[in-house]
Amino acid sequence: MSADIFSIETESWMLDPTITYLNHGSFGARVRSVFEFQLELKRELERDPVDFLDRQQGNLENARKVVSAFLGADSEGFGFVDNATTGIGCVVNSIQFEPSDEILTTSLVYNGVRQLLTRSAEDAKCSYREVHIDLPVNTTEDVYCTVVDSVTSSTKLLVIDHVSSASSVIFPVHKIARFCRENGVLLVVDGAHAPGMLELNIDAVGADWYVGNLHKWVCAPIGAGFVWASISKRASTHPLVVSHFYGQGLTREFDWQGTKDVTAWITSAEAVRWGDSIGWKSIQKQNNTLALWMQTQLVEAWNVEPLTPQCGSMVGSMATVPLPSGCPNTFEDCLAFRNRLYEEYQIEVPIFELYGRGMVRVSAQLYSNKSHLTCLIRAIHDICN
Ligand SMILES: Cc1ncc(COP(=O)(O)O)c(C=O)c1O
Repeated sequence: MSADIFSIETESWMLDPTITYLNHGSFGARVRSVFEFQLELKRELERDPVDFLDRQQGNLENARKVVSAFLGADSEGFGFVDNATTGIGCVVNSIQFEPSDEILTTSLVYNGVRQLLTRSAEDAKCSYREVHIDLPVNTTEDVYCTVVDSVTSSTKLLVIDHVSSASSVIFPVHKIARFCRENGVLLVVDGAHAPGMLELNIDAVGADWYVGNLHKWVCAPIGAGFVWASISKRASTHPLVVSHFYGQGLTREFDWQGTKDVTAWITSAEAVRWGDSIGWKSIQKQNNTLALWMQTQLVEAWNVEPLTPQCGSMVGSMATVPLPSGCPNTFEDCLAFRNRLYEEYQIEVPIFELYGRGMVRVSAQLYSNKSHLTCLIRAIHDICN
């Protein structure tokens, strides 16, 4: 691991240094310079709201170009939204479902998206189904086969995570997208965690839609997400809030979703520039190396099996590991355990139940270091013994 990047970055985050912060995955974290950039934009907005929101729309256009170029996405298909959930909502809303249609996703889907899809299926009077992904995952090919074998002639929309939330598994989205194109299935990739964590070329993924967050691993302000639509889906993809520019093209529609503070969106370009100044590839490599190291340490300390192959081929900057025996296994007990780690040990880390087993998900970001994991292992040992 490069000590250089780590030592430069530790000081520059907004996080409280007294907290052992192992949960970058939930809401990301902000770098001071990016946070200050947004504050200055907010001041500018308040100095003359009409000028900022009405005449200076070029700021948003520039940000859209910077961010979409970073993501390898054609900027004409790119629209900012507040978060990935909103993005998935826009996509699902743009599809006309028939009662015979099915919305398909996997058992590892993010619960908020699960609720959204269930409700959408209810509204459209169509079916909703989750294909079960066995854990641990043995190979990428296994995941691919499980997903595509579950597609039927009724499957209208497939929703696949790029990096799953609780289980931290990287899905083979390129290959799944190829299958969907060849079989007439619409595909939206839920990339809530992928931007900034993985080297991304959204155009090359080949999905119908790609939805993502910038406030997680790009470290943009909270409230920065996006929807990207392939050429054939652009005219039918609209923001959830329809306003002045309805029917005038995806970018115009998404740029104006009623009066709102767009400084998080504009600042996301500054977050991209911050990462550029260090080198996104170096950030990703360092985070991946540390995440894998953490996974190995936990697996060895607790004598448990990792959820994905130990070689790390399906891990990005987060790893989920089953808790050792003696630790909680239910939703409520896991929540109480998480809160105890925070209150008694000042450790912020998600502890949750997945497939009937208590799990921990650790995140690696430039501010993380090996001693954070030592604290976690000690605290869990303390509580469970
Ligand atoms: C896979 C996945 N999808 C969607 C979301 C929702 O993101 P947001 O709350 O920013 O809308 C998350 C959040 O962690 C996620 O992990």
